[in-house]
Amino acid sequence: MSTPVLPARDRAGRIYKPAIGSRLRPLLWVILIGFALLAANGFYLSSVTALTWYLGTTQQTFLYMLMVALHLFLGLVLVIPFLIFGFAHLATSWKRPNKWAIRYGLILLGAGLVTLASGFILVRIGGFLTVTDFGGLDVGIPQAMRRSIDFAANSHGIGAG
Ligand code: HEM
Repeated sequence: MSTPVLPARDRAGRIYKPAIGSRLRPLLWVILIGFALLAANGFYLSSVTALTWYLGTTQQTFLYMLMVALHLFLGLVLVIPFLIFGFAHLATSWKRPNKWAIRYGLILLGAGLVTLASGFILVRIGGFLTVTDFGGLDVGIPQAMRRSIDFAANSHGIGAG
């Protein structure tokens, strides 16, 4: 004899239809895992910066340079999935009855947008930035990344710019 599976219901007794369907679910995983990696990596970067400040000597190793590159890469590749997920989920959940979920969702979306935008602003205007000439084209790349390219190139006997 099998037990019938009852549909999930909310507190008002209405049948619960998940707010995130099968098409948005993979994107949700991409942004959850992506932001978790970005946060862990950012924690490492800020701890190296704090240690440099505390000891007064640079603690920026080659690993740190790679982590800066990873941070920029993750920030860059997460923008599009985050925007697609955030605004698609906003459109499909806007009329749902749970008004607090909508309010908190909007705050979460706003916080995510501010986080990503602040990264772009830091890369463009921070002390972090140096403008390098690549074949007549001025390209702004972070100083730490530039140093990691130089380091990698020199250690292979190539020598960059
Ligand atoms: C971009 C950041 C956001 C993330 C990561 C996120 C994530 C989630 C998740 C995992 C759920 C549960 C899904 C389910 O039960 O099937 C959910 C539910 C929901 N979200 Fe979002 N959300 C975000 C933004 C928003 C925004 C901007 C709104 C505004 C309309 C919103 C409104 C809702 C509503 C109404 C529910 C259903 C709550 C319920 O059924 O009681 N969310 N969200």
